[in-house]
Amino acid sequence: MQKSNQKVVFYFTLLMLGLVGSIKDLYAQKKYPQFGIDPLNEVIAAMTIEEKALMVTGAKRREVYPIALPGKKQKNIVAVGGYTYPFLHLGIPPIYLSDGPAGVRIAPKRMGEKQTYYATAFPVATLVASGWDTSLSKEIGEAMGHEAREYGVDILLAPAMNIHRDPLGGRSFEYYSEDPLLTGKMASAFVQGIQSQGVGASIKHFAANNQETSRRYINTILSERALREIYLEGYRIAVQEAKPWTVMSSYNKINGVYTPQSKELLVDILRKEWGFDGFVLTDWYGGDDPVEQMKAHNDLLMPGLQVWTDTIAHALRYGDLSMDVVDQNIANILNVALKTGTWKNYHYTDKPDFEKSKEIARRVARESMVLLKNEHNVLPLNKGSKSIALFGNYSYKNLPGGTGSGAVNYAHAVSVAEGLNHAGFKIDPTLAEKYMTYLEKGKLIVEKADSLITAMPQRDSILGELQFSNLDIETSAKESDVAFISIMRIFGEGGDRKIDHFNLTNEEYTLIDRVSNAYHAEHKKVVVLLNVGGVVETASWKDKVDGILLTWQSGQEGGHAVADLVSGRFTPAGKLPTTFPVRYTDVPSAKNFPGTPARNPTEVVYEEDIYVGYRYYETFDVKTSFPFGFGLSYTAFDYTDFKVKKASEGRAHIEITVKNVGQFAGKEIIQVYAKAPIGKLDHPEKELKAFGKTRLLQPGESQTLRFEITPRMLSSFDTDASAWVAEKGSYDLMVGTSAASVVENGKFRLKKRIVTEKVSKSLAPQVEIKALQPAKRKR
Ligand code: BGC
Repeated sequence: MQKSNQKVVFYFTLLMLGLVGSIKDLYAQKKYPQFGIDPLNEVIAAMTIEEKALMVTGAKRREVYPIALPGKKQKNIVAVGGYTYPFLHLGIPPIYLSDGPAGVRIAPKRMGEKQTYYATAFPVATLVASGWDTSLSKEIGEAMGHEAREYGVDILLAPAMNIHRDPLGGRSFEYYSEDPLLTGKMASAFVQGIQSQGVGASIKHFAANNQETSRRYINTILSERALREIYLEGYRIAVQEAKPWTVMSSYNKINGVYTPQSKELLVDILRKEWGFDGFVLTDWYGGDDPVEQMKAHNDLLMPGLQVWTDTIAHALRYGDLSMDVVDQNIANILNVALKTGTWKNYHYTDKPDFEKSKEIARRVARESMVLLKNEHNVLPLNKGSKSIALFGNYSYKNLPGGTGSGAVNYAHAVSVAEGLNHAGFKIDPTLAEKYMTYLEKGKLIVEKADSLITAMPQRDSILGELQFSNLDIETSAKESDVAFISIMRIFGEGGDRKIDHFNLTNEEYTLIDRVSNAYHAEHKKVVVLLNVGGVVETASWKDKVDGILLTWQSGQEGGHAVADLVSGRFTPAGKLPTTFPVRYTDVPSAKNFPGTPARNPTEVVYEEDIYVGYRYYETFDVKTSFPFGFGLSYTAFDYTDFKVKKASEGRAHIEITVKNVGQFAGKEIIQVYAKAPIGKLDHPEKELKAFGKTRLLQPGESQTLRFEITPRMLSSFDTDASAWVAEKGSYDLMVGTSAASVVENGKFRLKKRIVTEKVSKSLAPQVEIKALQPAKRKR
């Protein structure tokens, strides 16, 4: 036979074999009910015990990439997160999960490809919350949802929404605020944004996961009231308003029970009370008993260990675990699978619209950065400013976010120096040259986020060497018009910070001191930029400088956002979502963080109870460095026509008109606080009940903001009654520009006590908690 004929016969045979194979596959599949076509219960009933146990334990361990279903796109992915186990004969697809919350955490490299894949590093959650603008949070969610979708990701493991209980919490950059309402509203908008793109969200880490020390086993002991009012409330808002597809349980225990093993948390509260109808997954390797997790309807155990699968299969086989329970868990997972891009065979491009993301990242960053100090209007810079001297390593590189699962593999992060340059400012070249050489030499220019964990110093103390040996601050003060000093703090998963990481280092204090003295001697000004993942000490040095701009960790466009504000093209419009205390020992959780025993804590008691953040500082009259809700603007506002109108029993309508009476166009954030009458329960001096932000107001323009207050919003959690109750009596309804500055105060009376919601008795502490007492409270 001729060579070409042989080839034809060979390929013909292959084709025939292939056809026979596919027909056989099709035939085999026909014997099984098919997912998405046949009723779900029939599909689940057709699974063997092993298959069921595989379905509820993630698939990470088996192959690197799951096999595509017939007719669906093979994914050479992508998602640093994991996926669920697919079953070809039943037509069940994998679900692909990927981390957030500051960007899609895709793997930079893929098998067999040379290309590097990037995602946009957006501003961290704390910065987003500083914007107090739910529409911006939604836009960030949309952009991240879009990037996730275009990378073939089904569920983004975000937003993270635990409360800033203590400034030393290692993951606070991933979380929004010390306040549950602000947290809940930001998260809810973000979830709506993600899910509008056909990608699911996973609100995490549910719940009371407020520290990283001993994170896999710490027993969080707290009152039912603190749990309900402070640590669960944000989650409730997000679940009820935004309907996230999934919830990720946390690592810690609450009052003795691991959250993924708590039926009271995951069934009674999450599903029955709040109506959650998606699936719950564990945090990675969370909990210690797979059977208990199944029973608590923690539907999916991630990332999946063979021993978990075996344990569940064994328990099913020998009756220690009911088939109905696991069938329900599988149904919860599969109902979500029906919504995914993978199931719908969405043809993702691997080419997200990065230009659009960049614009959003920059806009959100500049709309949310907080101007903490602006003496003699040092900012915006004079149009005539000749040159800016930039001190601090992090003026020349940008730390866009934190480390761990919240890190993003971005392509480039714009530094302050780049941003200012780009905006036409002149940077002191001698200083820039010295810093850049130093950074290059110390190999501190890092472009890859994951390597941040090892390559980044926790703080900028190594810069001491450079600064004090050859910075020549005095000459710079003569030659430049203004000095900026960048202070950086990196935050990350897996560890909390120490007090000396909250305080500035000696080198940093000295730098601030020397630069301020030198510049002030020349009648020139100094501005500090805080590129930090969480709260730092400011009280001891803030008087030395003229301006402070809190940029937090502002994502990859941070440098441009700083320039947008410094130049006066835009007016700062952010306010603090978390208090800056005078000193760490003032923090109400300080003596109970990170728990006991001091070496390897196993339990932490929340003795401060509901008095977290400003609830404590305002009630116990403790001075702060910068209060919750505080932030300056280049312009000024007037507040008039304040009204509190009773709508119906328990409902109030509040109105206030905000007028821009300054020289710049700007936006103002209005906060509504309530003080409940002291009845059976003690109450904080102020609790945030609503907030709003004006549109951009030109000088002379005004806008009326309206808020509705409902009985549920006025309620506190009455533990004895297991109910949310609005007490009878007179309420103060205050309009504030921060927690510490009330501009208007109105009275509102409830004629009778209203039980707004009766709930199940859940998660009660097994020990007595020495909670902060009203008697000790100054009034
Ligand atoms: C983190 C989660 C993350 C998961 C997957 C865990 O260590 O706590 O936030 O989603 O890893 O990367």
